[in-house]
Amino acid sequence: MKLSVVSRSGREIIRGGIEINDQATVSDLQNAIHKRNKKYYPSRQRLTLPVQPGTQGRPVVLDPKKSLRDYFDGNTNNVTVVFKDLGPQVLYSTLFFWEYLGPLVIYPIFYYFPVYKYFGYEGERVIHPVQTYALYYWCFHYFKRIMETFFVHRFSHATSPLSNVFRNCAYYWTFGTYIAYYVNHPLYTPVSDLQMKIGFGFGIICQVSNFYCHLILRSLRSPSGNGGYQIPRGFLFNIVTCANYTTEIYQWVGFNVATQTVAGYVFLVAATFIMTNWAIAKHRRLKKLFDGKDGRPRYPRRWVILPPFF
Ligand SMILES: NC(=O)c1ccc[n+]([C@@H]2O[C@H](COP(=O)([O-])OP(=O)(O)OC[C@H]3O[C@@H](n4cnc5c(N)ncnc54)[C@H](OP(=O)(O)O)[C@@H]3O)[C@@H](O)[C@H]2O)c1
Repeated sequence: MKLSVVSRSGREIIRGGIEINDQATVSDLQNAIHKRNKKYYPSRQRLTLPVQPGTQGRPVVLDPKKSLRDYFDGNTNNVTVVFKDLGPQVLYSTLFFWEYLGPLVIYPIFYYFPVYKYFGYEGERVIHPVQTYALYYWCFHYFKRIMETFFVHRFSHATSPLSNVFRNCAYYWTFGTYIAYYVNHPLYTPVSDLQMKIGFGFGIICQVSNFYCHLILRSLRSPSGNGGYQIPRGFLFNIVTCANYTTEIYQWVGFNVATQTVAGYVFLVAATFIMTNWAIAKHRRLKKLFDGKDGRPRYPRRWVILPPFF
Protein backbone atom coordinates (compact mmCIF):
# COMPACT_ATOMS: atom_id res chain seq x y z
CA MET A 1 0.00 0.00 0.00
CA LYS A 2 1.38 3.44 -0.94
CA LEU A 3 0.41 6.39 1.26
CA SER A 4 1.08 10.10 1.00
CA VAL A 5 1.38 11.83 4.35
CA VAL A 6 0.56 15.52 4.04
CA SER A 7 -0.04 18.44 6.40
CA ARG A 8 -3.40 20.20 6.54
CA SER A 9 -2.09 22.73 4.02
CA GLY A 10 -1.17 19.88 1.65
CA ARG A 11 2.62 19.98 2.22
CA GLU A 12 4.29 16.57 2.07
CA ILE A 13 5.44 15.50 5.56
CA ILE A 14 7.25 12.31 4.53
CA ARG A 15 9.03 12.88 1.27
CA GLY A 16 8.10 10.29 -1.35
CA GLY A 17 5.30 8.84 0.85
CA ILE A 18 5.30 5.55 2.73
CA GLU A 19 5.14 2.03 1.38
CA ILE A 20 3.38 -0.21 3.89
CA ASN A 21 1.98 -3.74 4.12
CA ASP A 22 -1.66 -4.08 2.98
CA GLN A 23 -2.66 -5.61 6.33
CA ALA A 24 -1.06 -2.79 8.36
CA THR A 25 -2.89 -0.98 11.15
CA VAL A 26 -2.95 2.78 11.72
CA SER A 27 -0.53 2.15 14.58
CA ASP A 28 1.91 0.48 12.13
CA LEU A 29 1.66 3.56 9.94
CA GLN A 30 2.43 5.81 12.91
CA ASN A 31 5.50 3.69 13.69
CA ALA A 32 6.58 3.91 10.06
CA ILE A 33 6.26 7.72 10.17
CA HIS A 34 8.28 7.77 13.39
CA LYS A 35 10.97 5.66 11.75
CA ARG A 36 11.28 8.22 8.97
CA ASN A 37 11.12 11.24 11.29
CA LYS A 38 12.37 10.63 14.84
CA LYS A 39 10.68 13.81 16.11
CA TYR A 40 7.19 12.47 15.51
CA TYR A 41 6.72 9.59 17.97
CA PRO A 42 3.24 7.96 17.67
CA SER A 43 1.44 9.79 20.52
CA ARG A 44 2.49 13.09 18.92
CA GLN A 45 0.74 12.24 15.66
CA ARG A 46 -2.88 12.89 14.77
CA LEU A 47 -3.84 11.24 11.50
CA THR A 48 -7.08 12.04 9.71
CA LEU A 49 -8.72 11.38 6.35
CA PRO A 50 -8.60 14.30 3.92
CA VAL A 51 -11.77 16.42 3.96
CA GLN A 52 -13.42 16.37 0.55
CA PRO A 53 -13.89 19.87 -0.89
CA GLY A 54 -17.38 21.21 -0.26
CA THR A 55 -18.07 18.82 2.65
CA GLN A 56 -18.83 20.07 6.14
CA GLY A 57 -17.90 18.74 9.57
CA ARG A 58 -14.80 17.47 11.29
CA PRO A 59 -12.32 15.15 9.57
CA VAL A 60 -12.34 11.44 10.53
CA VAL A 61 -9.56 10.72 13.03
CA LEU A 62 -7.80 7.39 12.35
CA ASP A 63 -7.97 4.95 15.27
CA PRO A 64 -4.50 3.40 15.87
CA LYS A 65 -6.06 -0.01 16.60
CA LYS A 66 -7.93 -0.21 13.28
CA SER A 67 -6.63 -1.56 10.01
CA LEU A 68 -5.81 0.97 7.26
CA ARG A 69 -8.01 -1.06 4.91
CA ASP A 70 -11.04 -0.13 7.06
CA TYR A 71 -10.55 3.47 6.00
CA PHE A 72 -9.60 3.04 2.37
CA ASP A 73 -12.14 0.44 1.18
CA GLY A 74 -9.48 -1.87 -0.21
CA ASN A 75 -7.96 0.93 -2.28
CA THR A 76 -4.22 0.32 -1.86
CA ASN A 77 -2.59 2.89 -4.09
CA ASN A 78 -1.88 6.57 -3.68
CA VAL A 79 -4.09 7.11 -0.67
CA THR A 80 -3.55 10.20 1.41
CA VAL A 81 -3.62 10.76 5.17
CA VAL A 82 -3.46 14.15 6.80
CA PHE A 83 -0.91 14.57 9.57
CA LYS A 84 -1.04 16.99 12.48
CA ASP A 85 1.81 17.39 14.96
CA LEU A 86 0.24 17.47 18.45
CA GLY A 87 3.48 18.80 19.93
CA PRO A 88 5.55 17.26 22.76
CA GLN A 89 3.50 14.84 24.90
CA VAL A 90 3.74 13.62 28.51
CA LEU A 91 2.07 10.65 30.20
CA TYR A 92 -1.22 11.50 31.91
CA SER A 93 0.22 10.18 35.16
CA THR A 94 3.16 12.60 34.80
CA LEU A 95 0.79 15.53 34.25
CA PHE A 96 -1.32 14.65 37.30
CA PHE A 97 1.73 13.91 39.45
CA TRP A 98 3.28 17.35 38.90
CA GLU A 99 0.04 19.29 39.30
CA TYR A 100 -0.73 17.58 42.64
CA LEU A 101 2.83 17.58 43.97
CA GLY A 102 2.86 21.39 44.11
CA PRO A 103 -0.01 21.80 46.64
CA LEU A 104 1.27 18.81 48.63
CA VAL A 105 4.68 20.45 49.09
CA ILE A 106 3.73 24.14 49.21
CA TYR A 107 1.01 23.90 51.88
CA PRO A 108 3.23 22.43 54.66
CA ILE A 109 5.86 25.13 54.00
CA PHE A 110 3.39 27.75 55.27
CA TYR A 111 2.55 25.61 58.30
CA TYR A 112 6.02 24.50 59.37
CA PHE A 113 8.36 27.33 58.34
CA PRO A 114 8.54 30.94 59.55
CA VAL A 115 7.57 32.34 56.16
CA TYR A 116 5.32 35.10 57.54
CA LYS A 117 8.28 37.10 58.79
CA TYR A 118 9.06 37.75 55.11
CA PHE A 119 5.57 39.29 54.86
CA GLY A 120 6.19 41.65 57.81
CA TYR A 121 4.77 39.56 60.73
CA GLU A 122 7.49 39.36 63.36
CA GLY A 123 5.40 38.29 66.40
CA GLU A 124 5.10 34.76 67.75
CA ARG A 125 2.69 32.55 65.81
CA VAL A 126 0.09 30.55 67.73
CA ILE A 127 -1.04 27.47 65.82
CA HIS A 128 -4.75 26.67 66.28
CA PRO A 129 -5.95 23.04 66.21
CA VAL A 130 -8.02 23.78 63.06
CA GLN A 131 -4.82 24.78 61.23
CA THR A 132 -3.19 21.48 62.15
CA TYR A 133 -6.24 19.44 61.08
CA ALA A 134 -6.43 21.47 57.86
CA LEU A 135 -2.82 20.53 57.11
CA TYR A 136 -3.59 16.82 57.60
CA TYR A 137 -6.80 17.09 55.56
CA TRP A 138 -5.08 18.93 52.71
CA CYS A 139 -2.08 16.61 52.53
CA PHE A 140 -4.28 13.52 52.73
CA HIS A 141 -6.35 14.87 49.82
CA TYR A 142 -3.42 15.47 47.47
CA PHE A 143 -1.57 12.32 48.54
CA LYS A 144 -4.77 10.37 47.76
CA ARG A 145 -4.98 11.99 44.35
CA ILE A 146 -1.39 11.04 43.49
CA MET A 147 -1.98 7.46 44.64
CA GLU A 148 -5.21 7.27 42.60
CA THR A 149 -3.34 8.57 39.55
CA PHE A 150 -0.84 5.72 39.69
CA PHE A 151 -2.93 2.89 41.14
CA VAL A 152 -6.63 3.53 40.43
CA HIS A 153 -7.42 5.54 37.27
CA ARG A 154 -7.49 3.77 33.93
CA PHE A 155 -7.00 6.55 31.41
CA SER A 156 -8.21 6.16 27.84
CA HIS A 157 -5.53 8.51 26.49
CA ALA A 158 -1.95 7.67 27.28
CA THR A 159 -0.61 11.18 26.85
CA SER A 160 -1.43 14.86 27.10
CA PRO A 161 0.34 17.89 25.53
CA LEU A 162 3.33 19.06 27.56
CA SER A 163 1.87 22.59 27.62
CA ASN A 164 -0.93 21.27 29.90
CA VAL A 165 1.66 20.57 32.61
CA PHE A 166 2.46 24.30 32.82
CA ARG A 167 -1.20 25.37 32.64
CA ASN A 168 -2.42 22.87 35.25
CA CYS A 169 0.54 23.44 37.56
CA ALA A 170 -0.09 27.20 37.41
CA TYR A 171 -3.71 26.55 38.49
CA TYR A 172 -3.05 24.10 41.34
CA TRP A 173 0.18 25.61 42.64
CA THR A 174 -1.21 29.16 42.70
CA PHE A 175 -4.42 28.17 44.48
CA GLY A 176 -2.42 25.96 46.87
CA THR A 177 -0.20 28.90 47.80
CA TYR A 178 -3.13 31.29 48.09
CA ILE A 179 -5.11 29.04 50.45
CA ALA A 180 -2.06 27.92 52.48
CA TYR A 181 -1.10 31.56 53.05
CA TYR A 182 -4.48 32.50 54.55
CA VAL A 183 -5.29 29.33 56.52
CA ASN A 184 -1.87 29.33 58.23
CA HIS A 185 -1.69 33.10 58.69
CA PRO A 186 -0.66 34.41 62.17
CA LEU A 187 -3.82 36.60 62.20
CA TYR A 188 -6.11 33.69 61.23
CA THR A 189 -9.30 33.50 63.32
CA PRO A 190 -10.58 29.94 63.83
CA VAL A 191 -14.26 28.98 63.54
CA SER A 192 -16.08 27.34 66.46
CA ASP A 193 -15.10 23.83 67.51
CA LEU A 194 -18.48 22.46 66.41
CA GLN A 195 -18.25 24.07 62.96
CA MET A 196 -14.74 22.70 62.52
CA LYS A 197 -15.87 19.16 63.43
CA ILE A 198 -18.89 19.32 61.11
CA GLY A 199 -16.75 20.64 58.23
CA PHE A 200 -13.93 18.14 58.50
CA GLY A 201 -16.30 15.25 59.34
CA PHE A 202 -18.46 15.92 56.28
CA GLY A 203 -15.35 16.49 54.13
CA ILE A 204 -13.77 13.18 55.12
CA ILE A 205 -16.99 11.30 54.31
CA CYS A 206 -16.94 12.98 50.87
CA GLN A 207 -13.26 12.12 50.32
CA VAL A 208 -13.93 8.45 51.09
CA SER A 209 -16.99 8.55 48.80
CA ASN A 210 -14.86 10.16 46.08
CA PHE A 211 -12.37 7.30 46.38
CA TYR A 212 -15.22 4.79 46.10
CA CYS A 213 -16.50 6.58 42.96
CA HIS A 214 -13.03 6.24 41.44
CA LEU A 215 -13.05 2.49 42.19
CA ILE A 216 -16.39 2.22 40.35
CA LEU A 217 -14.97 4.10 37.33
CA ARG A 218 -11.92 1.84 37.40
CA SER A 219 -14.11 -1.25 37.21
CA LEU A 220 -15.51 -0.04 33.86
CA ARG A 221 -12.24 -0.64 32.02
CA SER A 222 -9.66 -3.40 31.60
CA PRO A 223 -6.17 -2.77 33.07
CA SER A 224 -4.90 -1.66 29.63
CA GLY A 225 -7.49 1.16 29.58
CA ASN A 226 -9.62 -0.64 26.95
CA GLY A 227 -13.40 -0.72 27.19
CA GLY A 228 -14.24 2.81 26.07
CA TYR A 229 -16.96 4.60 28.02
CA GLN A 230 -19.58 2.64 29.94
CA ILE A 231 -22.60 3.69 31.98
CA PRO A 232 -21.31 4.06 35.55
CA ARG A 233 -23.74 2.40 37.96
CA GLY A 234 -24.00 1.95 41.70
CA PHE A 235 -23.66 4.21 44.74
CA LEU A 236 -24.10 7.92 43.80
CA PHE A 237 -23.74 7.15 40.09
CA ASN A 238 -27.36 5.97 40.18
CA ILE A 239 -28.33 9.60 40.81
CA VAL A 240 -25.65 11.70 39.13
CA THR A 241 -23.42 11.23 36.05
CA CYS A 242 -20.24 12.69 37.56
CA ALA A 243 -20.53 11.46 41.14
CA ASN A 244 -16.74 11.70 41.46
CA TYR A 245 -16.87 15.45 40.77
CA THR A 246 -19.89 15.87 43.09
CA THR A 247 -18.00 14.30 46.00
CA GLU A 248 -14.87 16.30 45.08
CA ILE A 249 -16.83 19.56 45.25
CA TYR A 250 -18.53 18.63 48.53
CA GLN A 251 -15.26 17.65 50.16
CA TRP A 252 -13.99 21.19 49.40
CA VAL A 253 -17.23 22.52 50.90
CA GLY A 254 -16.34 20.56 54.07
CA PHE A 255 -12.80 21.98 54.11
CA ASN A 256 -14.16 25.51 53.72
CA VAL A 257 -16.82 25.12 56.42
CA ALA A 258 -14.01 24.07 58.79
CA THR A 259 -11.39 26.66 57.77
CA GLN A 260 -13.52 29.51 56.39
CA THR A 261 -11.27 31.65 54.21
CA VAL A 262 -12.12 33.73 51.16
CA ALA A 263 -9.22 32.03 49.35
CA GLY A 264 -10.75 28.60 49.97
CA TYR A 265 -14.16 29.68 48.70
CA VAL A 266 -12.64 31.28 45.58
CA PHE A 267 -10.99 27.93 44.81
CA LEU A 268 -14.28 26.13 45.45
CA VAL A 269 -16.07 28.36 42.93
CA ALA A 270 -13.31 27.94 40.31
CA ALA A 271 -13.17 24.15 40.75
CA THR A 272 -16.98 23.87 40.64
CA PHE A 273 -17.09 25.93 37.44
CA ILE A 274 -14.42 23.79 35.75
CA MET A 275 -15.86 20.45 36.84
CA THR A 276 -19.40 21.49 35.88
CA ASN A 277 -18.26 22.23 32.32
CA TRP A 278 -16.48 18.89 32.11
CA ALA A 279 -19.48 17.10 33.62
CA ILE A 280 -21.83 18.60 31.00
CA ALA A 281 -19.53 17.29 28.24
CA LYS A 282 -19.27 13.83 29.86
CA HIS A 283 -23.04 13.66 30.39
CA ARG A 284 -23.65 14.58 26.72
CA ARG A 285 -21.11 12.03 25.52
CA LEU A 286 -22.76 9.22 27.51
CA LYS A 287 -26.23 10.23 26.29
CA LYS A 288 -24.96 10.18 22.69
CA LEU A 289 -23.17 6.84 23.08
CA PHE A 290 -26.13 5.20 24.82
CA ASP A 291 -29.00 6.52 22.70
CA GLY A 292 -31.23 3.43 22.90
CA LYS A 293 -30.93 2.83 19.12
CA ASP A 294 -29.71 -0.31 17.27
CA GLY A 295 -29.66 -2.40 20.43
CA ARG A 296 -27.62 0.06 22.46
CA PRO A 297 -28.92 0.73 25.99
CA ARG A 298 -30.52 4.08 26.71
CA TYR A 299 -28.67 6.31 29.18
CA PRO A 300 -30.81 6.56 32.34
CA ARG A 301 -32.21 9.86 33.62
CA ARG A 302 -29.61 11.44 35.90
CA TRP A 303 -28.46 14.74 37.30
CA VAL A 304 -25.26 16.01 35.68
CA ILE A 305 -23.19 16.98 38.71
CA LEU A 306 -24.92 18.70 41.63
CA PRO A 307 -28.34 17.28 42.50
CA PRO A 308 -30.86 18.82 43.02
CA PHE A 309 -29.56 21.95 41.25
CA PHE A 310 -27.97 20.70 38.08
N1 LIG B 1 -10.40 20.29 42.39
C1 LIG B 1 -10.38 20.36 41.08
O1 LIG B 1 -10.26 21.43 40.50
C2 LIG B 1 -10.50 19.08 40.28
C3 LIG B 1 -10.70 19.17 38.90
C4 LIG B 1 -10.78 17.98 38.17
C5 LIG B 1 -10.65 16.76 38.82
N2 LIG B 1 -10.46 16.67 40.16
C6 LIG B 1 -10.35 15.36 40.87
O2 LIG B 1 -9.53 14.48 40.15
C7 LIG B 1 -10.28 13.29 39.82
C8 LIG B 1 -9.88 12.78 38.44
O3 LIG B 1 -10.28 13.76 37.48
P1 LIG B 1 -10.62 13.38 35.96
O4 LIG B 1 -11.09 14.62 35.31
O5 LIG B 1 -9.51 12.57 35.36
O6 LIG B 1 -11.88 12.38 36.20
P2 LIG B 1 -12.72 11.58 35.18
O7 LIG B 1 -12.23 11.83 33.79
O8 LIG B 1 -14.17 11.82 35.41
O9 LIG B 1 -12.51 10.05 35.58
C9 LIG B 1 -11.41 9.43 36.14
C10 LIG B 1 -11.07 8.17 35.33
O10 LIG B 1 -12.24 7.38 35.06
C11 LIG B 1 -12.40 7.23 33.65
N3 LIG B 1 -13.83 7.33 33.29
C12 LIG B 1 -14.66 8.41 33.50
N4 LIG B 1 -15.90 8.15 33.06
C13 LIG B 1 -15.88 6.89 32.55
C14 LIG B 1 -16.87 6.06 31.93
N5 LIG B 1 -18.13 6.48 31.76
N6 LIG B 1 -16.49 4.82 31.50
C15 LIG B 1 -15.20 4.39 31.68
N7 LIG B 1 -14.22 5.13 32.26
C16 LIG B 1 -14.55 6.36 32.69
C17 LIG B 1 -11.63 8.38 33.02
O11 LIG B 1 -11.24 7.99 31.73
P3 LIG B 1 -10.65 9.00 30.58
O12 LIG B 1 -9.17 8.83 30.68
O13 LIG B 1 -11.18 8.46 29.31
O14 LIG B 1 -11.13 10.39 30.89
C18 LIG B 1 -10.47 8.53 33.98
O15 LIG B 1 -9.44 7.61 33.71
C19 LIG B 1 -11.75 13.74 39.90
O16 LIG B 1 -12.66 12.69 40.12
C20 LIG B 1 -11.71 14.70 41.04
O17 LIG B 1 -11.75 14.00 42.26
C21 LIG B 1 -10.39 17.84 40.89
